[in-house]
Amino acid sequence: HIDTKDTSARNDTAPYLYGLMFEDINHSGDGGIYAELIANRAFQGSGIVPGQWSGLTGNVIVNSENPIDPYGPVLTGWGAIGNVRLSLDRLHPLSDALPVALQVDVAANATGEVGFLNYGWWGMDVSPQTYSASFHVLANAPRYNDTNVGFTVSLRSNLTGEVWSKADIPPAKLPTFDYVQLNTTIENTATAPNSNNTFALTMDASQVAGQTLYFDLISLFPETFKGRKNGLRKDIAQAFYDMKPRFLRFPGGNNLEGVSTQTRWKWWKTIGPLKDRPGRPGNWNYYNTDGLGLLEYLEWCEDMEIVPVIGVYAGFSLDIWGQDGTDWPEDKFDEVIQEALDELEYCMGDTSTKWGAVRAKHGHPEPFDIKFIEIGNEDWFSKTYPWRFSRMLAGLKKVYPDITYISTAYNENDDYVIDIPEGAYWDTHHYAEPSFFIEDFDFYDNWQATTNNTDVGVLLGEFSVYQIDTPSGEVNYTNPPDVHIAYPQLLSAIAEGVYALGGERNPDVVRLSSYAPSLQNRNWYNWTPDMISFTANPKETVLSASYWQQWLFAHFRGTQTLPVRNVKGAFNPLFWASSIEEKEGVVLLKVINIGNQTVPLSTSLDRAYSSVNGTILTAKSLDAFNTAENQNAVVPRALNLSASASALHKREGAFNWQVPPFSLTVLQFDV
Ligand code: AHR
Repeated sequence: HIDTKDTSARNDTAPYLYGLMFEDINHSGDGGIYAELIANRAFQGSGIVPGQWSGLTGNVIVNSENPIDPYGPVLTGWGAIGNVRLSLDRLHPLSDALPVALQVDVAANATGEVGFLNYGWWGMDVSPQTYSASFHVLANAPRYNDTNVGFTVSLRSNLTGEVWSKADIPPAKLPTFDYVQLNTTIENTATAPNSNNTFALTMDASQVAGQTLYFDLISLFPETFKGRKNGLRKDIAQAFYDMKPRFLRFPGGNNLEGVSTQTRWKWWKTIGPLKDRPGRPGNWNYYNTDGLGLLEYLEWCEDMEIVPVIGVYAGFSLDIWGQDGTDWPEDKFDEVIQEALDELEYCMGDTSTKWGAVRAKHGHPEPFDIKFIEIGNEDWFSKTYPWRFSRMLAGLKKVYPDITYISTAYNENDDYVIDIPEGAYWDTHHYAEPSFFIEDFDFYDNWQATTNNTDVGVLLGEFSVYQIDTPSGEVNYTNPPDVHIAYPQLLSAIAEGVYALGGERNPDVVRLSSYAPSLQNRNWYNWTPDMISFTANPKETVLSASYWQQWLFAHFRGTQTLPVRNVKGAFNPLFWASSIEEKEGVVLLKVINIGNQTVPLSTSLDRAYSSVNGTILTAKSLDAFNTAENQNAVVPRALNLSASASALHKREGAFNWQVPPFSLTVLQFDV
């Protein structure tokens, strides 16, 4: 029986509950949602093999022994066109941040087209739209013979060489003492049959034979989400947006920490002109350009109308490959606090402040509203977190008292006591088996008693079904293929959904939650399963069963919980939670059946309803998952419930239905 009348028994639902976790892992940023199409655009390093373009077939699982990328400058991703020699040059740096350039020596006897091409992030999508190309070029004396040089940028098939579209930059005299940035757009009307395409930058040998030119920061952007310059790849961002998230946690994850303190995510190096961003060796075995930097993250939030949950560096770096950590010394810890304060000033300060003025210079004078700050990431790996957390919290709170601060660890054992004050949150991560999520359905029902604390909220910052149930229940990160879940299955969605229902029933405790990792480039990844996977070809973007679980719950949130009373039978195999939408017009009942049998459900509302609709997520089998070839194996669909609700039933508020096996359903009663 769903009680809508006893308003004293209701609770407000958690307004930010479902959201996104993002860090650059699996080439989720560079080569992923960051729309830049050129791989290794400033010769900083890349794991891509030149000219290689591989498709992924089958249910491939993570390879935890990914070869370490060459982090140093490399020419990978690039190839020569015509009679030229390509090499790396350090004598003509574009900037302090980008010290390596591409040297192009054109043979004295070269004729016709000369230049170079880029193979993209395992290919490049070519579809009708406007592409924005730009590059920096220097024609250095004394070899430069002072003639005018023109350039052509084009999109081509890597298989046939066919040119899909091009744009010319008319011949002009190039400066010899410094780089010039040239920009153009390619109006492309072609649809390439696959993404095995390249971007070419060419010259006419008659203008440059015998000369040496230097290039750097060679960039090509397709149209982006909401048209942002230096923005997000449209289809992936749209999939996030369509999920109706309420927050974005960034920039990690381990990728915040660095594998060493030196390589931590230094926020101030991720802002400003791209030529001043040095990038860094990311935690996940590839170089990060930081083109997707702090301001881009904040604008991502702005464009999706969601709130940022910023992870600030808290003085601990975990070498995830060696599993060794480095802690900041206590007597120097003020430096770390100051770094975070400066970062917050960049985000929130008005233009009269030092860092607020810098943000304004970067094109965003309006301060951002920051509600949540997370102090570090997974600091249970470090014994020093108790004092680091306390000092950081005190230091930040003094200046920003209204922010909700999030601890990344809680009292794990007796010798590790973290003083999380009332009102602060704890970020807990679960990569676990289905039974963990199902058995812990009621974990947050007893939260206050368990924690002996009155008001520590929870951010379920990272969770996903990682492997099927095993006798030990221990998650095995070496991924034996017989138990590892490579792509989220219906089973994952069901177990994660049950856990989410447990959270929804306790909105005063579980304040935010997000699946992790969220993105996977199927051509190069460190971690599976992931919520969305993709290749260079937007048609191959796969929204997983877990994505659809998140989508379903985020779409039907309700603004207040409703008590469900007089229940006959216990939870399992059915799990449920009810809520009501703001204007009292819609009552929601979320029901999950984890069993393999249909279960009869009789509900009664204490008022009449005019119609009932349903949305269900189920599939032919529990291990069903979506792939590029079959994207609809596990997708939500509307239920036709007309036969289940007679006029009498509607008047009396009654509803009887057979809940299908292995299913997640949201019933919507218009009251
Ligand atoms: O999501 C992948 C990693 O898992 C995150 O970087 C880290 O926080 C967790 O251990």
